[in-house]
Amino acid sequence: MKAVLTGGGRATRLRPITHTWNKHLIPLANKPMIFHAIEKVVDAGITDIAINTNPGETELQKVIGDGSRWGAKIHFFEQQGGPLGIANVPKQAQAWIGDSPFLFYLSDNVVLGNIRNLVEQFKNGGHDALMTIAKVPDPRRFGVPEFVDGKIVRYEEKPAVPKSDYAVTGLYLFNNEFFKAYDTITPSARGEYEISEIYNWYLRNAKNVGHTEITGWWKDTGKPEDLLEGNQLILDEMTPGEATREGQIDPTAILQGKVHIGKGSKIGPGVLVRGPVSIGENVTVEASYIGPYTAIGNGSVIRNTELEHCIIFDNVTVDCHARIVDSLIGKDACVTSKQSTHPHGYKFIIGDNARVEI
Ligand code: G1P
Repeated sequence: MKAVLTGGGRATRLRPITHTWNKHLIPLANKPMIFHAIEKVVDAGITDIAINTNPGETELQKVIGDGSRWGAKIHFFEQQGGPLGIANVPKQAQAWIGDSPFLFYLSDNVVLGNIRNLVEQFKNGGHDALMTIAKVPDPRRFGVPEFVDGKIVRYEEKPAVPKSDYAVTGLYLFNNEFFKAYDTITPSARGEYEISEIYNWYLRNAKNVGHTEITGWWKDTGKPEDLLEGNQLILDEMTPGEATREGQIDPTAILQGKVHIGKGSKIGPGVLVRGPVSIGENVTVEASYIGPYTAIGNGSVIRNTELEHCIIFDNVTVDCHARIVDSLIGKDACVTSKQSTHPHGYKFIIGDNARVEI
């Protein structure tokens, strides 16, 4: 079995972060979002993975590499022809997929736990396609399955009046008839080849379409606060094996709950870290409090600051005698309270689409 993962798209609602950063590389619990997807796929025994990219993309390939670090083989392919909808992603990988059945995974979907059972269910259940669903408070912004006598009979894309309380989540399994189905569909009103229409082809043609409910599922809807929620969910799931503490930890520093500290990091005297928290490699923390649901990227320096419920990217400096909450701070950014030049006052160099609340 093979897997196709998404790595393209523009994610305009996550600006300014996505001005310079592929959304799939945004760190959640200190790991690029797409790494979580790759890990689940490999854990389920699939090691042939293709990832689509925006034309001209190089960063994703550089960060992910060839997959050997996961014992996988990763192939990248450029998505041609602009945004043609998610069903068009496997279509463009048709030659690579060949005759194989495949898992199609939207990498901006975060799934808690593992997906081994899901892959087994597809392999052993004689299914032609399998759909994953999750109960959500407002299904209207998702694809929604319609049930008759416990069986899915239709998959409706973003219906105004949903026919169930479920969303179809971004993990899809197909046999090779996907391509037969694809050749029959046309773009929807929003100009996209919809994955819903692929399933509706399978359903109309009385194929064996299974479904399974995912209980720990999170889908970012594209806003920064959603990323903070994804970060929180993954940090909550940290296992004791992941909550390892390396680096130099001053004996007077207090680490409470699940706290991961990476190699080369220095936690100074009197620092309080209250987990779940993930601190990357070569991070310096001095005279600070790091509160729950915070992830700090490699090489960052945190001094004289309280942080809670934050995503701090790599090589960030925060030294500001203040409490920072619910924030995303992008790579190489600097937040300080040093008033070295006159006149004194707040001084900002803020990129397009940034948001500051003082
Ligand atoms: C896509 C699918 C939708 C599904 C969702 C899950 O939506 O079209 O049916 O519920 O992924 O992530 P999109 O993210 O393109 O709005």
